[in-house]
This record gives sequence, C-alpha cells and structure tokens, in this order.
Amino acid sequence: MKTTKKILINFAHPAKSKSKINIALRKMVENLDGVTINDLYDHYPDFMIDISREQGLCEAHDVIVFQHPFYWYQAPSIVKEWFDLVLEHGWAYGAMATALKDKLFVQTLTAGGDAASYQADGMNRYTIAELTSPFRATANLCKMASISPFTILGIHRGLPDEEIRFHAENYRRFIVALRDNRLNLDMAKEIPCCSTHLDAIIGKE
Ligand SMILES: Cc1cc2nc3c(=O)[nH]c(=O)nc-3n(C[C@H](O)[C@H](O)[C@H](O)COP(=O)(O)O)c2cc1C
Repeated sequence: MKTTKKILINFAHPAKSKSKINIALRKMVENLDGVTINDLYDHYPDFMIDISREQGLCEAHDVIVFQHPFYWYQAPSIVKEWFDLVLEHGWAYGAMATALKDKLFVQTLTAGGDAASYQADGMNRYTIAELTSPFRATANLCKMASISPFTILGIHRGLPDEEIRFHAENYRRFIVALRDNRLNLDMAKEIPCCSTHLDAIIGKE
C-alpha cells in the first residue's frame, strides 16, 4: 500500500496583503490532500500562542515546514516566539522527549537578496546555509531530521509573474514529492538548497 506523509506548513508572514511570492507559493499547496496550512499571524495576531494546539498539530503531522520571508536574516518574530513557547522541555527536547523524534523539519524561505549576495564575498557575507543553521540545530536537538531549505532568492529585483508561477509550481512539486515519499532526503540534506536542485532530488513523477 502506498504510504504518504502528513505535512504541516506553519506559514508566517506579517504583511500578507503585500506578499507576492509567499502567497503565490501557498496558493499552490493549500488545497493538496495531506497538507495543513497553519497561518501563525492569523491565529495569533497578539502573539498569544496556544501551545497545546501547536503541539497537537505537530504530533499529527510527519513533516513540519516553516514558510516565511527572510527578515533581518531570520524569520519574522512570531516564528521565534513559536520556538520559544512550543518546543518545551520534556516534549520537544530532553532525554525523555519523543514528540518530534524522526519527524522532518523543512524551511521554505524567500529573500530580497540574490544568490550572489549570499556568499562569503557577497554583500550579505554569509551563505543561506550558514544563516539558517540555527533552525536545523534546533530540529536536531528535538531529534528531528532536516533537509536544506527551499529558497527563492533575488525578490528585490522584482520577479515577473511567469517566474513567480514557475517557483510556485516547483514548490508544489516539492511538497507533493515530500508527501508521497519521492524526495531523496539524503541528497536533499547535502545540496545547498532544495529549490535549485529539484529535478535531482525528486524521484519519478
Ligand atoms: C522587515 C524586513 C526585513 C527584511 N530582511 C531581509 C533580509 O535580511 N535579507 C533579505 O534578503 N531580504 C530581506 N527582506 C526582504 C524580504 O525577504 C522579501 O521582501 C520577501 O521575501 C518577499 O516575499 P513576499 O512577496 O512574500 O513578501 C526584508 C524585508 C522586510 C520587510
């Protein structure tokens, strides 16, 4: 029997009405079977995160995605609040904690700076892999597996509609492959980013 993974997308964008790319990506995956969108800013406009609701959602899914724009080389602040409150000792981490064990952590990230700027000799000096490493370190402490982020860079140059559509369609392919166990997770860990190596990491569609 074909097994599929349940995917939770924790979506964090504080200004959705101004979003072009995150909203376009989200629209392509929000009606997929097995995919739950959890809009953190919609649920918690006052940042009063319901810890048991969030823990319950994590427990009910196999893959936990955080999708957000890059804000000051990090996620928008509600994501930090989510980590601080939801990842409790004894539940997420600690010797006896097993709630997140063997689940997969994934980050979907959009950024204004382009790929060249995220290099040691580029304007931003550090790579996306370096800047996002605390997320994977956190996942590791919580006994989760993780892969390289799915990134869309260079938004500041203004992406034409057809390029946004291209990225959104690729995001859907990525999420469907994750759900259907067709993504090569070993390879997806080694490459710098999943979005630019999609054909290599997705099995037969
Ligand atoms: C407060 C703020 C901080 C930002 N910080 C960064 C940053 O550190 N690096 C970067 O490349 N882009 C940065 N950006 C640009 C956003 O990442 C970019 O506008 C966003 O990914 C576009 O996605 P959207 O169309 O869904 O809003 C920042 C934007 C804002 C508003």
